[in-house]
Amino acid sequence: MNKHIDVTDTALLDDALAGLTARQKYIDPKWLYDSAGSALFEEITAIPPYYLTRTETAILRANAPQLAGLVPPGGALVEFGSGASVKTRLLLENGPHIGTYVPIDISGPFLQETAADLRRRYPSLSVAPVVGDFLHPVHMPRALSEVPKVGFFPGSTIGNITPEAARLLLSRARAWPHVDAFILGVDLVKEPAILVPAYDDPAGVTARFISNILVRLNRELGATFDLSAFDYQARWNADAARIEMSLVSTKAQTAVLGGHDIAFAAGEPIAVSMSRKFTSQSLQQLAQDSGWALDALITDPDALFAVAVLRPDGG
Ligand code: SAH
Ligand code: AVI
Repeated sequence: MNKHIDVTDTALLDDALAGLTARQKYIDPKWLYDSAGSALFEEITAIPPYYLTRTETAILRANAPQLAGLVPPGGALVEFGSGASVKTRLLLENGPHIGTYVPIDISGPFLQETAADLRRRYPSLSVAPVVGDFLHPVHMPRALSEVPKVGFFPGSTIGNITPEAARLLLSRARAWPHVDAFILGVDLVKEPAILVPAYDDPAGVTARFISNILVRLNRELGATFDLSAFDYQARWNADAARIEMSLVSTKAQTAVLGGHDIAFAAGEPIAVSMSRKFTSQSLQQLAQDSGWALDALITDPDALFAVAVLRPDGG
């Protein structure tokens, strides 16, 4: 039941060239995640200032039976950006009735290893990984067309994509045949004193994670980015309610990518990732704009993070 959507070197080169030749340089954060990037993200989840993972995990753990119960017997749990599927296990352990788990992730080999591990842990569960880009329509296994489905998008990864892409992803899930609910994890707006250290840890793990994108361009495409000449920077943009992560060129320099010269001025940034933060209002608006109704919003005692249960609006 494995499905592969080609994520080729050409796509990486085309995308990186488009971003790095734009007036304001950027690279799509989906390219952060090769196997090394996925492992670095797992490291981030354990660093003390990165409160997101432990907070969401506590919410999921406390509500696991109810959340797993959203999936009807024999139904499918479909997860976007599943990574190591650690949080998912809380639902699977409380949901022996779940028939199929469909993890969707762009980090192919990492996804396949995770799927193999899940098959060993849960022998009666059908695990049907989809390697691909969730910004495009997902090719759900055909065998699931008549099966009731619940979407799962934890981690606040929805904050890493634009508002328009988030609406599109949720609208497409809303249009799945037999969709019952969508469980969405979002990080909440809070003081910069908590937000910024979560994205700028003293041990420099986040800096290594974000720099991995240039490491990848050098290794996979023979590019010549000098890693020592870029500084990692994380900033809170209060107006846009997002953390902005960039790599800043420390000097005037030129790198070569796919035969093209990419010139940098001293102090020029490459925008690599953003992490949008939500309020209950902005979340409600997102749900409504994509055909869902907010059925429940579960937060931790400090209101750091929220897990929302969405139900088809008018469905
Ligand atoms: N759900 C996990 C992992 C979050 S990290 C958690 O909550 O801890 C974000 C995950 O989304 C990574 O595994 C990454 O490979 C995946 N991802 C990022 N952009 C993607 C895209 N455009 N399409 C598919 N997967 C993507
Ligand atoms: C995966 N995603 C939710 C992370 C976040 O918090 O935005 C990605 C990340 N980037 C830097 N640190 C973590």
